[in-house]
Formats: sequence, structure tokens, C-alpha cells
Amino acid sequence: MATVGEKVRDHFHDDASRFDAIYEEEKGLVTKFIDNWWRGVVRKRLELNVEKFKPFAGKRFLDVGCGSGRFCFEYAKNGAKEAVGIDFAPAMIEISNKLAKEMGVDDRCKFYCGAFPDDLPKDTFDGASANGFFDYIENPVPIIKAMKDFTKGKMIMSFPKAVEWRVPLRRVRFWMKGTPLFLYREQQVKDILKEAGIEKYEWINLDRDYLVVAEV
Ligand SMILES: C[S@@+](CC[C@H](N)C(=O)[O-])C[C@H]1O[C@@H](n2cnc3c(N)ncnc32)[C@H](O)[C@@H]1O
Repeated sequence: MATVGEKVRDHFHDDASRFDAIYEEEKGLVTKFIDNWWRGVVRKRLELNVEKFKPFAGKRFLDVGCGSGRFCFEYAKNGAKEAVGIDFAPAMIEISNKLAKEMGVDDRCKFYCGAFPDDLPKDTFDGASANGFFDYIENPVPIIKAMKDFTKGKMIMSFPKAVEWRVPLRRVRFWMKGTPLFLYREQQVKDILKEAGIEKYEWINLDRDYLVVAEV
């Protein structure tokens, strides 16, 4: 039987182009409306990550579960010396490499196709982010601890709320596809952070998610 990781990887491998389209500006009015209403948080997270990581000049960043690379591109465009992304869905990494070239940031963006943390070479980054990632992680504590090991600076992580108006529909959608989905209550996230040794953080209530900006 497929593991949680294999189911998530296969889901995002098949869904990569559709997922990336959330970031595309040019789309029909109906798609635009649905994306804003249903998945607007995806773009809001990106804006907030950029705002919180500033200034970027001379720094190196890691994006865990980087998807189609959109966070890395923004970090590079804002002046980061390097932005490294890792994702285990091959189609996501293909899109990341293609878009990096098109945007002219491929000299400063590097993408690994593999599972975090096992497939990422040892390194230290000034900042690390993981957005829309813990939604698919069965046991977040060791993953957060691993992110900490890779970071000396700021860590930004999103956790999807368990109680929120979109939850019932979202649960049904993922259940129908057979893709695991993990949602969190506020206290649960705070307990996870404590267990992972994260003590100093800013807590942001962001639409569908909790966003944590931690100093490590
Ligand atoms: C919803 S997407 C978010 C992508 C990106 N962070 C964004 O917000 O645009 C979640 C991504 O996490 C990746 N992922 C989940 N668990 C992973 C793991 N253990 N290692 C690497 N990638 C993982 C999935 O393949 C998927 O592309």
C-alpha cells in the first residue's frame, strides 16, 4: 500500500500545472474569481513571506515543498544571493526549472527533486520557508526540527486551520482523490512548535492558515 508521502507526491505530480496556474495573472474571469475566493491564501502567503524576509541582499534561502518554485523566484528577484527549493513531485521541479529560465533567475535558483530532509545536502541558510506544506505532513515535529538544523535566521511556516468555512469541501475533495490532508487547531500548532524547540515566533492569523514567523 502507498505511504502518505507517495500519495502526496503522486497527487502533486499530476496536479502541478493546475496548481501553478493559481499564480498566473492571465486567466479567465471565472477562474480568477474561483482562485481568489478559494485559494487566495496561496498568493497572500507569498507576499507575506517576502515582506517578512526582507532585506534579501546577500542572503541564501531555502524553500521546503517549493512546488513550482514561485517563492524561490520572488526571493531571487528581491536580491537573494541564492534560493534553493526542494520538492518530491518531479513535475513541480520541471516547472520550477523552466520558469526560472524564463524569468532569468536560473543563475540564483537551484531545485532539488526529492524528499525533505533526506534528499537535501547539508547546508545553512539565512532563511527557510514551508508554505502549504504541513497540510501534507503526518508528523511535523521532526520536519520542523530538520528545518531548524538547516537555518540560522528566520523560519516561516504555514499551517492550515482545522476550523474554517472551506474545510468540509476541502476534506471531501482530498478524500475523493485519496490524498492525505492534515489540518491543525491553534493549540495543536503551538504544542508542535514547542516540541520542535521553537520558542520565539510571531503568530499571524491569515485567512485559511496560521502563519508562523520564527527566529532560530
Ligand atoms: C501545496 S504545494 C505548495 C507549493 C509551494 N510551497 C507554494 O505554496 O506555492 C505542497 C508541495 O509540497 C511537496 N511536498 C510535500 N511533502 C514533501 C516532502 N516530504 N518533501 C518534499 N516535498 C514535499 C508536494 O510535492 C507539493 O508540491
